[in-house]
Amino acid sequence: MPTVSEIIGQELFNRENLVTLLRAEGAEGMFLLQKAAEMKLQTVGNKVYFRGLIELSNVCEKDCLYCGIRKSNDKVLRYNLNDLEVLKAAQFAFRERYGSIVIQSGEVTNDHFAERIERLLVHIRNMSDNKLGITLSLGEQSEEVYNRWYDAGAHRYLLRIESSNPELYRKLHPEDGKHTFQKRLTALNHLKKIGYQTGTGVMIGTPFQALDDLAGDLLFFRDFDIDMVGMGPFIEHNDTPFNTPAGDALPLSVRFYLTLKMVAILRLMMPDINIAATTALQAIDPLGREKAVKAGANIIMPNITPGSYRNNYLLYNNKPCTDEEPEQCTGCLDARIALTDSEIGYGEWGDSRHFARKKKN
Ligand code: 5AD
Ligand code: FES
Repeated sequence: MPTVSEIIGQELFNRENLVTLLRAEGAEGMFLLQKAAEMKLQTVGNKVYFRGLIELSNVCEKDCLYCGIRKSNDKVLRYNLNDLEVLKAAQFAFRERYGSIVIQSGEVTNDHFAERIERLLVHIRNMSDNKLGITLSLGEQSEEVYNRWYDAGAHRYLLRIESSNPELYRKLHPEDGKHTFQKRLTALNHLKKIGYQTGTGVMIGTPFQALDDLAGDLLFFRDFDIDMVGMGPFIEHNDTPFNTPAGDALPLSVRFYLTLKMVAILRLMMPDINIAATTALQAIDPLGREKAVKAGANIIMPNITPGSYRNNYLLYNNKPCTDEEPEQCTGCLDARIALTDSEIGYGEWGDSRHFARKKKN
């Protein structure tokens, strides 16, 4: 069995060896994180790019067993930002020179919604003279709708696969025919075909998940040739079927460390993709996102949803920054990024270099 240092040095990233890396602890774990930090500096550099996150609506047609805004959670106060609120948030990001925004929402699939997003995209492009990068994260939609949004100006799309193991996917979602692994995969293929910079990701430490599944997820990212990834620890939400840790659940601190290792390994496997330091990390450790930046992440998604709505977009317990207004986040983030010896790529799109390289070839 090769050692951690041999696996990294010789890039022996097969399933078995990935599990060895995921098990690395102590000095070996530190070595892994250190190597990823070096790789990041050599490839994407020390810049961190901001994507201002607008949580458009918590209305959702789906019922994922882990998610706090799932359809059957009747304790959630449902909201939908109006167009003006969305445009104001986009303007804020533009003014603060965030470079890009992400529009995220629960899954809604109807003509009215598709049209609304199309209209908003055109407005935001005009308002920013096409200078604000726009990422969408609006779940599974038809190929036609993805096409329309792409034509209206969205150029990146995030859709997490949640797990690349179809059996595990099934255990995390209701078996109602609406939540199928195949549909998720088809949607991702459509996005890629249309020309979006395509991002995906998984949760780490979900019920029923083994290290072998996470190794499979890393191989999936590589084989799908993904441009961007967002991965975060799974955190129980009180009002979901996964509300209490199962008997064999990993402690939060272990999920946290595993997430850092997933980020680090992926940086070594796919040196020029964009990797997000996700907010869920910060729900476990106040410096969670900064630690992920040190371990290889280069994207941060500051929440720019108007403060009054934030308490209703709770995907998991203990979500941070729900009492803040967007204005308060800028100074806070400047200070936080300074802690990581990184620079903020103000006013830059910070596109996935991986995507740019693929296009050239
Ligand atoms: N813990 C962590 N992440 C979660 N997400 C949804 N519910 C949870 C949870 N309980 C993640 C999913 C989804 C993204 C928007 O949030 O991976 O794709
Ligand atoms: Fe909303 Fe899964 S519960 S997308």
